[in-house]
Amino acid sequence: MDRNIEYIRSLIKENPDTLKLRKQEEENYIPIIRPEVMQFISVMIKIADIKKILEIGTAEGYSSICFCRAIGKDADITTIESEEQRVNTARKNIESFNLDKNVTVIHDDAVKALSYMTGHNVFDMIFLDGPKTHYLEMLPDCIRLLKEGGILLADNVLYFGMTSGEKEIPKKKRTSAYHLRDFLEAVSSSYELDTSIINFEDGLVISVKKGTK
Ligand SMILES: C[S@@+](CC[C@H](N)C(=O)[O-])C[C@H]1O[C@@H](n2cnc3c(N)ncnc32)[C@H](O)[C@@H]1O
Repeated sequence: MDRNIEYIRSLIKENPDTLKLRKQEEENYIPIIRPEVMQFISVMIKIADIKKILEIGTAEGYSSICFCRAIGKDADITTIESEEQRVNTARKNIESFNLDKNVTVIHDDAVKALSYMTGHNVFDMIFLDGPKTHYLEMLPDCIRLLKEGGILLADNVLYFGMTSGEKEIPKKKRTSAYHLRDFLEAVSSSYELDTSIINFEDGLVISVKKGTK
């Protein structure tokens, strides 16, 4: 791990209960958001007064629980996960934190689920943390579902240096790396978004949906 990241991570004072869940997830090799990225998003949630979040990629509910912690009692999270066992564990974890009224876990493929979520301007924030090969495909629905001034985040977009070509791309990772390039091109050139790609940890996209006023 990069020395600066290691140092930053050592300064994060996570709640003992979410820390316990994090350790459990790490021991079980469940891929969850990194502490410094979670801390960054938690601060952003407070700055932008975010309450209503759509998350793509629940895993076992760790990030949804942390979003609730950052928002407080008005948290309203919808999160989508395709793996049944993870959905079941996520629901149990969320219940054990007494957050089942704040978090709805949808068991479905995210591309499909997004297409049947009707309406416009619904969410304050959308967090893409699921299937990298489908970020581009999901982008129009994400933009539709995001409020004006709302924030779109996508994690791990630099894909360990493979997206930029800094690292050689093994054959089996090419599809994801090439899709991420197309996604980054699209968010950077969208007339509906202002986007910053942050070279932080494994790369984080932050876009804000432009208003019509
Ligand atoms: C990186 S993990 C999410 C971690 C979680 N956000 C956290 O930090 O606790 C990505 C998750 O996306 C799920 N996933 C992958 N493809 C999906 C799809 N097409 N639809 C919904 N979920 C998907 C995976 O099963 C996995 O649990």
